[in-house]
Amino acid sequence: MENNKRPETMQRITTPELAGAFIEEQVEAIRRQVGDKKVLLALSGGVDSSVVAALLIKAIGKQLVCVHVNHGLLRKGEPEQVIEVFRNQMDANLIYVDAIDRFLDKLAGVSDPEQKRKIIGAEFIRVFEEEARRQDDIAFLAQGTIYPDILESVGVKAHHNVGGLPDDLQFELVEPVKLLYKDEVRVIGKALGLPDSMVYRQPFPGPGLGVRCVGAITRDRLEALREADAIVREEIGSLPEVPWQYFCAIPDIQSTGIKYVDGQGQRYMGWAVIIRAVNTVDAVTASVPEIPFSMLCRIRDRIISTVDGVNRVLWDISEKPVATIEWE
Ligand code: XMP
Repeated sequence: MENNKRPETMQRITTPELAGAFIEEQVEAIRRQVGDKKVLLALSGGVDSSVVAALLIKAIGKQLVCVHVNHGLLRKGEPEQVIEVFRNQMDANLIYVDAIDRFLDKLAGVSDPEQKRKIIGAEFIRVFEEEARRQDDIAFLAQGTIYPDILESVGVKAHHNVGGLPDDLQFELVEPVKLLYKDEVRVIGKALGLPDSMVYRQPFPGPGLGVRCVGAITRDRLEALREADAIVREEIGSLPEVPWQYFCAIPDIQSTGIKYVDGQGQRYMGWAVIIRAVNTVDAVTASVPEIPFSMLCRIRDRIISTVDGVNRVLWDISEKPVATIEWE
């Protein structure tokens, strides 16, 4: 497509004033493109789709139909935040789809990482397609494509783009931030009033916690991961220098633990939770930042005392290469 090249003269958007001018311009452009038609958007709650949603709400209000699919692999509090920000605060037309059972049933017993990714991707398209068909007069599909996606072109972020929809659902695209870099998208998001926790969110893979619940996903181990991950994000996120990405993984192994019941030691099997924190510029290589030992101990104590089924906390100090950032 033409218009996919950032003009050399285009100024980098670094200030609220420049963001304001961009927003005004895009609001006009969106209104011109869309007229009185309806636009559909898969709203994950990630930075790019959230900024596109806020921009379209400003431009066309309820002509935008946002679909938030909860595949059960989101982090703690994420679906609630999407509903709070977009439905309650911005009065958006938001369809919340609870597809948790559908995804987890399809994933049951599947341990191969690529197979898991394929199932999650394919099911996402199916759920989104069903919602698209329920709306009868959609004319456009909005997407949070950003400039690095166009430059890299080989679908690094295919999860953001709802490619793979059948031919009769090939809507015209609305991609208002496609010429922007990530830092500019964040400046726009701030100017549109999105909360910092959304605008400065760390990268999160499309298959979500699915690639961190290592091996075949079970609901109880997934729940333990979600709870432990929330603790790790709260603690490590409070450091003066927050790492680029920090989260938990939970392998499909159990080890012996000991519990005291009425003064009697009893052996039992429990899971190990792994803390992962990395710094990187481009995710191609990654280093491991120092985390104060007192913080690691606090994370351990909070996880062990509150997360059911976990009896060990480990810290992954592997660099990339040779280890990847994610466990799968
Ligand atoms: P790795 O594990 O390959 O991760 O070192 C590099 C970066 O990519 C993210 N990642 C993914 N993002 N879908 C995504 O959208 C995926 O399947 C996926 N796998 C890894 C990872 O979180 C890290 O930021």
